[in-house]
Amino acid sequence: MSDRPLFVTGATGALGRRLVQEWLETTDRTLYLLIRHKGLHSAADRARKLFAPLGLDGMVGGRIRAIDGDVTKPGFGLSAGDRDLLRAEASEFFHIAALTELNGRKEESERINIGGTTEALRLARDLLERGRLERLFHFSTAYVPGSLRTYHAREDELNPDPAFANHYESSKHEAERRVRGAMAEGLPVTIFRPSIVVGDSRSGEVTEFNVVYPFFKLYAHGILDVLPARADETFNVVPIDFVTQAVRALSSRADTVGKTYHLVAERPPTIGTLLKVKDTEFPRMPPIKLVDPDEFDQTRHSFLVSRIQRYIEPYLGYLRCKLTFDTTNTRSDLDGMGVEFPETDYEFLTRILQYAVDKKYLIA
Ligand SMILES: NC(=O)c1ccc[n+]([C@@H]2O[C@H](COP(=O)([O-])OP(=O)(O)OC[C@H]3O[C@@H](n4cnc5c(N)ncnc54)[C@H](OP(=O)(O)O)[C@@H]3O)[C@@H](O)[C@H]2O)c1
Repeated sequence: MSDRPLFVTGATGALGRRLVQEWLETTDRTLYLLIRHKGLHSAADRARKLFAPLGLDGMVGGRIRAIDGDVTKPGFGLSAGDRDLLRAEASEFFHIAALTELNGRKEESERINIGGTTEALRLARDLLERGRLERLFHFSTAYVPGSLRTYHAREDELNPDPAFANHYESSKHEAERRVRGAMAEGLPVTIFRPSIVVGDSRSGEVTEFNVVYPFFKLYAHGILDVLPARADETFNVVPIDFVTQAVRALSSRADTVGKTYHLVAERPPTIGTLLKVKDTEFPRMPPIKLVDPDEFDQTRHSFLVSRIQRYIEPYLGYLRCKLTFDTTNTRSDLDGMGVEFPETDYEFLTRILQYAVDKKYLIA
């Protein structure tokens, strides 16, 4: 088991927190976490608060080293002391931080996702040249081709003709383009492209109801009742534990440098299955009417509903996935590592919705 220290951005987010928890519980590694201070709360305060419910807050100052910084600032805004510490210590760098809001503003999405990744690349080069860094892991998304057009995404390329539904997709595409450029110049990078990350495969548990959950909420709470989609269309969700296990397995292999991995469901569920789960397992949730997208006319609805329908447009490409994903690298390099592609069937959908209901995020 490797005991080399890690440098991680985005540790306060859904994926980052879960990864950090697993590294703390299953390795002896020291984790340098870049966390931005919020108000009067320093990085260390935030780390203590974050890990207290897991009983891991006692590790802050020990195996958890919280470093104040912001990915949008030059050099992440690190103090000279912290930069020297990272040069002396960090052997692997996980750039996870991003603005993940699908309806985020253009400027903010670009500042965090493109600007933050550009700074990550600059810092990685510095740590490689002057420190003991060995490699960088970049968290991209399976939606870098854009979700508006039918496309088979390969792991070894970035769609040169993307069709974006929102600024999240366009900014993550540009960020990955820059990472691939650096990789082509010899920077030792591995790229992960998860699809939509949802709750744990066994318990449905998730710490943040983000990305697609707010969309579910609009329907579960009866704010929207019409879904412009077809029953046989699929949406690609993956349980968070599959993503973290795959990341840990693939990052432990030396031969994954220079490669990209789709962390997706190979057999994604259909909208029809989702509605069946809702009707059968959660009969008290309001009914949802499927309308053929070609016949869907926003103007036939009330002013409020048409406004909300416009608001959810950035999400529709996720619920009506036109993308299919090549998983050659993921399949071959996870082989024999004890990590299987997830089942995202009726039972799984029931578990993730049940968890959101139990936590009173969704009413049923
Ligand atoms: N969740 C998904 O469905 C999904 C799917 C595909 C790809 N991904 C990718 O996986 C990564 C993690 O996603 P997630 O769902 O865990 O995201 P998340 O829950 O939204 O967390 C985002 C993280 O980024 C940090 N961050 C944002 N702006 C920052 C800044 N200026 N400086 C420092 N930190 C900043 C946040 O810190 P604060 O706490 O300070 O806000 C938080 O820790 C992202 O790169 C995302 O694009 C996620």
